[in-house]
Amino acid sequence: MNADLLKRESARRALEDVRPGMKLGLGTGSTAAHFVDLLAEKVRAGLDVVGVPTSEATRKQAEGLGIRLTTLDETPELDLTVDGADELDPVLNLIKGGGGALLREKIVASASREMIVVADESKAVRELGRFPLPIEVVDFGIEATRRAIVQVAEAAGCRGEMKLRKRPDGHVFVTDQAHVILDAHFGRIPDAAALARGLAQIPGVVEHGLFIGLASRAILAGPEGVRVVERA
Ligand code: A5P
Repeated sequence: MNADLLKRESARRALEDVRPGMKLGLGTGSTAAHFVDLLAEKVRAGLDVVGVPTSEATRKQAEGLGIRLTTLDETPELDLTVDGADELDPVLNLIKGGGGALLREKIVASASREMIVVADESKAVRELGRFPLPIEVVDFGIEATRRAIVQVAEAAGCRGEMKLRKRPDGHVFVTDQAHVILDAHFGRIPDAAALARGLAQIPGVVEHGLFIGLASRAILAGPEGVRVVERA
């Protein structure tokens, strides 16, 4: 089974948790896109839900498929967010933001009573950090912010190169909220909670891709079948 089929299978299982009338956070990325796609099929068949997209890409997809959308201004409390992840550890701490939507993703997940992660098994790791950690920063003072990140990271036991994210055409990647992203290649993050606390103290850091204690369940699809992990 290829990875895309596994992602779709995970998304299909998450759909079983959606009930009529729910207010949903709609994630970003290839796995979340499967969820939006499958949700739209249910909506066309009569399911009444409303969604808050976590990116402009997801907004366009959901709109195009006829899913009713709202905003957190109109609907500040959501029932369930379904989103992908770049990595997840055994206690469901996540790295997110590979697609650059981490800020809106974290705001939406935090406004939801529950967050379900949909992913293929390859995203499950013993320890976070092999995937470069996205850190969304303002471009003003970026070198000072970079130095502050290095200090905080070292205090949390992390070292590695930090690269300003570029688009495939070579231009600097700019997020939906008009910030830029530093991808921190730490290799391993021995204490994700400590690193998250440290990064949150840096003024130039808008948000980082560590999602600590936000996901309650992960639906992981592998060649052997689907495995559900609940946060203890
Ligand atoms: C988007 O910013 C990310 O957080 C995605 O949720 C994450 O990168 C997972 O994407 P895929 O489902 O495409 O692997």
